[in-house]
Amino acid sequence: MLVVIKKDYEEVSREAARIVAGAVRSNSQIVLGLATGSTPLGLYKELIALHRAGDLDFSQATSFNLDEYLGLPAFHPQSFHFFMKQNFFSHVNFPSGNVHIPDGTISRNYDEYCAQYEQSIKAHGGIDLQILGIGRNGHVGFNEPTSSLASRTRLKALSRETVEDNRHSFSNDSEVPKCAITMGIGTILDSRRVLLLASGRSKAAAVAKAIEGIIDEDAAYSLTQRDYYRHVLEMTQIFTPERLS
Ligand code: GLP
Repeated sequence: MLVVIKKDYEEVSREAARIVAGAVRSNSQIVLGLATGSTPLGLYKELIALHRAGDLDFSQATSFNLDEYLGLPAFHPQSFHFFMKQNFFSHVNFPSGNVHIPDGTISRNYDEYCAQYEQSIKAHGGIDLQILGIGRNGHVGFNEPTSSLASRTRLKALSRETVEDNRHSFSNDSEVPKCAITMGIGTILDSRRVLLLASGRSKAAAVAKAIEGIIDEDAAYSLTQRDYYRHVLEMTQIFTPERLS
């Protein structure tokens, strides 16, 4: 595991984009695991810019998103379907048939639906590169604290903290989703590579506990081993630079 500490959000986003773009260029049929939230927005902007400059082609890529709120249709402005369309898919040449995001409108047979999502990831050969943000309470996707390391895609009740964090985005309390469909920690860990991004002081506690990834100085604030991580990064640049490409 490599910890990359960058000066600020812009640098985190640029470095993440460099890694994702490199992965897409070296495997045009890449299967990407994608995340929502404010953290990967800068990464998506950078990828869009590279695509517009003619430097990045997604025409053969496939994606699986981490999660979706239960009860929100794709056109709902707070849904992750909407987010992904607005902030990424409508700006690049990702074939819509290759995009997979859990369906927030299902209302029964949840386990069966989630098993199919898992099956679909497997059928595509698994996730090559998974992008992750991290919630204030350390959740990834919607795997709230206490989620099992072996967990798979499933319906998950959101923690009070997460529901609180989301409240401001909805016009009334009854609309705020209480559950989500999320890939599990086990699903995420099956990915060949994981890129966890964090930025800002509000993430420092979660990062210190969950650690590692590409983070900015603020999110790295509570790490006790910062000098060692820098040293590891320098050695990696010298001896195994391919791990950073
Ligand atoms: C949501 C998403 C997570 C994301 C988290 C943090 O809960 N399900 O995948 O990492 O928010 O969001 P932000 O990046 O906006 O801090």
